Amino acid sequence: MKKSLVAGIILTLGILGFTSQVSAEQVQSLRGANDLDTKSNQVAVKRNIPDRDPIARDYVQQPPLIPHKITGYKINLKFNKCLTCHSWTNYKEAHATKISQTHFANRDSNVMANVAARRYFCTQCHVPQADAKPLVENTFKPVSAIHK
Ligand code: HEC
Ligand code: HEC
Repeated sequence: MKKSLVAGIILTLGILGFTSQVSAEQVQSLRGANDLDTKSNQVAVKRNIPDRDPIARDYVQQPPLIPHKITGYKINLKFNKCLTCHSWTNYKEAHATKISQTHFANRDSNVMANVAARRYFCTQCHVPQADAKPLVENTFKPVSAIHK
């Protein structure tokens, strides 16, 4: 009984010591040390880049970046704005890139007549671009060749 009380006190002191050590290190997020709701953190919303030519891909299998604005483009159960330009029926008239064949294969590799469910929500993989300064340096380099 007495032993466990002593152990409890030692443990509590240990935890207290640990927490004060952590706060002394001044952990800081990329947005600085201010709370989210303080005025100084309210940065202007970044604007999507307007339409431009396709953006070069940085690695094999990269979902191409969206080189145009998509503000207000809806994708839901009944309607997919992206497909009004990118589907195989509409791409010619819209002068848009047609979705590739991979987008028709379901997870069992069966090729469907329409976009497979797992490729339906385009913005899960394809993202628009803003002219924003990178938060951290990135030195990523793709492999130069897949087959040697
Ligand atoms: C009004 C027609 C239109 C709509 C709607 C549209 N796009 Fe596009 N998209 C284009 C055109 C045109 C291009 C080709 C740009 C060029 O060649 O200059 C393009 C290019 C792209 C590319 C680049 C392809 C590549 O090979 O690099 C991606 C990715 C893309 N769009 C995704 C989307 C997604 C996702 C949506 C829905 C959120 C969408 N687009 C909605 C017309 C459209
Ligand atoms: C699960 C991720 C994923 C989803 C969801 C997805 N894509 Fe893609 N997309 C890719 C990848 C990866 C590529 C490049 C390789 C390829 O063609 O499969 C690509 C390629 C493309 C291309 C370029 C095709 C070419 O021939 O260069 C277009 C255009 C495109 N996608 C549009 C769309 C649209 C529109 C949707 C929604 C209907 C969509 N994608 C949904 C991953 C995705």
